[in-house]
Amino acid sequence: MTKESKRNRYLNENFDRFVAQLSEWLAIPSISTLSENRDDVRKAAEWVQKRLSAIGFPQPQIIPTAGHPLVFAEWQVDAHQPTLLIYGHYDVQPVDPLTEWCSPPFTPAIRNGNIYARGACDDKGQVMLVLAALEAWAKVDHSLPVNIKILLEGEEEAGGAAIGEYVRQNPEHLRADAVLICDTHMASPEKPSIITALRGILYTEIAVFGAKTDLHSGSYGGVAPNPLHALCLVISRLKGEDGVIDIPELDTHIPAPSVTEKQSWLRDTLHIEDALRREMGVDQLVGEAAYPALERIGLRPTLEVHGIKGGFVGEGAKTVIPATATAKVSMRLPASLDPDTVFTWLEKAVSDKMPSGYRVQLTNLHAGKGVAVSPDNPFVRAAAEALTAEYGTAPVFMREGGSIPIAALFAEVLHAPLVLMGFGLPDDTVHAPNEKFSLSQFGKGMKTVADFLGRLRRP
Ligand code: BES
Ligand code: MN
Ligand code: MN
Repeated sequence: MTKESKRNRYLNENFDRFVAQLSEWLAIPSISTLSENRDDVRKAAEWVQKRLSAIGFPQPQIIPTAGHPLVFAEWQVDAHQPTLLIYGHYDVQPVDPLTEWCSPPFTPAIRNGNIYARGACDDKGQVMLVLAALEAWAKVDHSLPVNIKILLEGEEEAGGAAIGEYVRQNPEHLRADAVLICDTHMASPEKPSIITALRGILYTEIAVFGAKTDLHSGSYGGVAPNPLHALCLVISRLKGEDGVIDIPELDTHIPAPSVTEKQSWLRDTLHIEDALRREMGVDQLVGEAAYPALERIGLRPTLEVHGIKGGFVGEGAKTVIPATATAKVSMRLPASLDPDTVFTWLEKAVSDKMPSGYRVQLTNLHAGKGVAVSPDNPFVRAAAEALTAEYGTAPVFMREGGSIPIAALFAEVLHAPLVLMGFGLPDDTVHAPNEKFSLSQFGKGMKTVADFLGRLRRP
């Protein structure tokens, strides 16, 4: 039997254990944005540190930071071989609304060939498949095909700054010939995908202040400032019904796609627009009508309001005019736009659009730049070959609307090509109730990554 099929056999024979181990990890509620889960985040880091030891990494480390810890491990096999840096995150998103979950988010459950839990796909399941692939090499070949560094973070979902600082301060330590990230989606189970661009993100809070205290809406209604209303006005002026964002500076900084890319979006041969309607359960897509849906997700900037706080939302009725109101508003940005610069444009737009009689304050909660990947390098080619071998069809190259803030920094600081090869499916409902990961994708992902690693080995 060839070594490759021996590794695949190892992965098949140990599949149930990998699922059991993933379940154990998923049961740790490592929600990075909630301070009450701080210890759980640490436990999830320790869990993966132990796993890395068991695979054979000499001394996996927990690196304390001002926020949640990083996990780093390194296995140097041969100076003549290339070094691959693998990134992933072990933190997860919050779980609300809890009542929408068919099984509790931190009690992993298997139904219809899927594992359901918060983090199943994003990103513990995908990190776990990479670890399984590494384990197959370590146990079958008693070594790895190339040098591996692994860096896992615990505050990706919180927009944490720790990993950015670490990467900037330790470029030599992290030096690698390429970076592998398994934290994205495929177009469908039949269409493996390699991501060629991630959008950047700017996450802000708008706070509006009116009177010095809440007021009776009878005694003061008609003369009192209402920050909640002013906030709604500003938001609707920032982006109108047509989906167009009214920040003048944006227009001149958005790249045009190539003619071929534009045509492929207009043709939409994979019927992504239908799939999007189905996934969302809506009859109609909204947004900028002048652009194809795939361009709206892959390249256009967005502005979304995530939540508004202020005034009275309790049971029954209360006649109050609130003294303050806040909104969480984020923007997605093509890789050409620097989110910190866009923040200054947004600040100006907000103050220009604010009705008079209010004080407004915009806070930059976090920002991460987007990234564009050149598919023309041996590492991406190896990924494409491994996907083709496992799925029986060549991958599509596509832009992803979501963000992985550290990806841009890896490209900038390490000057290493990025391989964005993910195994999520469009209906995995990451960040939402009933997040799942397909077990068949879990299995294929391990084999693809094991094969990919072998293809990086120099003769
Ligand atoms: N894995 C996602 C990024 C992603 C989303 C890839 C959808 C493919 C499809 C990542 O964990 C994520 O959620 N990123 C955040 C970043 C933010 C919190 C700074 C995002 O995109 O909202
Ligand atoms: Mn993720
Ligand atoms: Mn996520």
